[in-house]
Amino acid sequence: MNFHTRKWVKPEDLNPNGTLFGGSLLRWIDEEAAIYAIVQLGNQRVVTKYISEINFVSASRQGDIIELGITATEFGRTSITLTCEVRNKITRKSILTVEKMVFVNLGEDGLPAPHGRTEIKYVKDQFKDDDVGS
Ligand SMILES: CC(C)(COP(=O)(O)OP(=O)(O)OC[C@H]1O[C@@H](n2cnc3c(N)ncnc32)[C@H](O)[C@@H]1OP(=O)(O)O)[C@@H](O)C(=O)NCCC(=O)NCCS
Repeated sequence: MNFHTRKWVKPEDLNPNGTLFGGSLLRWIDEEAAIYAIVQLGNQRVVTKYISEINFVSASRQGDIIELGITATEFGRTSITLTCEVRNKITRKSILTVEKMVFVNLGEDGLPAPHGRTEIKYVKDQFKDDDVGS
């Protein structure tokens, strides 16, 4: 799993207990996962269909740097299934896990459309053709 995105926990992200507000974290995860799905499926019209149990493993505090890791576990006909972990960048301690997030690829009509993808495409492969001759 690649931990591409880092976030700095700021005062506006806290709950009344002084730790990271779950809603802020879920917003970051949904956005990060949606971007991952868009890049993998090559289509901006992708929606969140399903999010499984969310396990808040440990708290995060103001000033912490956290990192979000997402990877694809399954490519369906119109869907992609992802798994997610958030951890403390410095201590590597797990903060949250989401076992399963399903995104659906939509066509211009807003209905599920086959995406034709079967495996993870890495950045170096996505831009391979563009590099020719440059
Ligand atoms: C996404 C949506 C178009 C799918 O419609 P649908 O009638 O469920 O479509 P389908 O039954 O054809 O299923 C589409 C895919 O989702 C999968 N799916 C459907 N329900 C699922 C569920 N509860 N859990 C996991 N996967 C599910 C199906 O297996 C299928 O995947 P596959 O083609 O890879 O096998 C529709 O449910 C919708 O618009 N939901 C709201 C999305 C939204 O607003 N999200 C929040 C904002 S982004």
